Amino acid sequence: MGTASDIKLINEDGLRLDGRSADELRPMKIETDVLARADGSAYIEWGGNKILVAVYGPREAFPKHTQDIDKAVVKARYNMAAFSVDERKRPGPDRRSMEISKVISEALSSAVMVNQFPRAEIDVYIEVLQADAGTRIAGLTASSVALAAAGIPMKDMVVGCTAGKVEGQVVLDLSKEEDNFGQADLPMAVLPKSGNVVLLQMDGDLSVEEFEKASSMILEATKKIHKIQRDALAGKYKAIALERSGE
Ligand code: CDP
Repeated sequence: MGTASDIKLINEDGLRLDGRSADELRPMKIETDVLARADGSAYIEWGGNKILVAVYGPREAFPKHTQDIDKAVVKARYNMAAFSVDERKRPGPDRRSMEISKVISEALSSAVMVNQFPRAEIDVYIEVLQADAGTRIAGLTASSVALAAAGIPMKDMVVGCTAGKVEGQVVLDLSKEEDNFGQADLPMAVLPKSGNVVLLQMDGDLSVEEFEKASSMILEATKKIHKIQRDALAGKYKAIALERSGE
């Protein structure tokens, strides 16, 4: 058994433990409309992450004191299932999940046309069934697909990805081992049309040059992720069209 310091995260050929190159994403797939009762839903598998998102609303915000007379409030709730991680996760909210819910709510509020729905709330339930690093970004990326599937008007999708530093090298889309034993983790999310950054957090240390490299790697990757989001939604509308043509 090796210890953390014995684990070689990048080999002599520049390949990572799972065989990826520095700027390669883990496999990803997104499905929509996986839950019958939600107004919109999405399921994402990204690397070993498995996350379900259910969207409800816009509906009258409750309790009333949470209402904003000018716009809708986006209430995202990020939750990890007890069985989603190696060590049983104690059920219920904790500081980490509250922080993640807050940054996801803020990121989604920048994309949704909240001014169209004064006093309303839009609920986004993010359930992490299996966690494998990068869950906030995977949950956020799936949430914007679920919002679109619910027909909620948005200026743009929200597309996220992480990069980080592992053994002195900047790499895209950290795996669990890289997240645990690496030197930095940079989750970031953008609105692809405007390029506006709607989530940016950092754990660890990056120099200015490393930060620039990491963020440009992320921006490049968001183009691919955005296409996977669009394809998932196109699949939904194709299915509706087929159903109608069969009538
Ligand atoms: O998931 P994300 O990278 O957005 O957030 P993090 O706080 O950096 O957590 C990284 C990873 O640590 C998660 O994706 C989980 O795989 C793992 N984790 C865990 O094993 N137990 C927890 N209570 C929380 C996180």
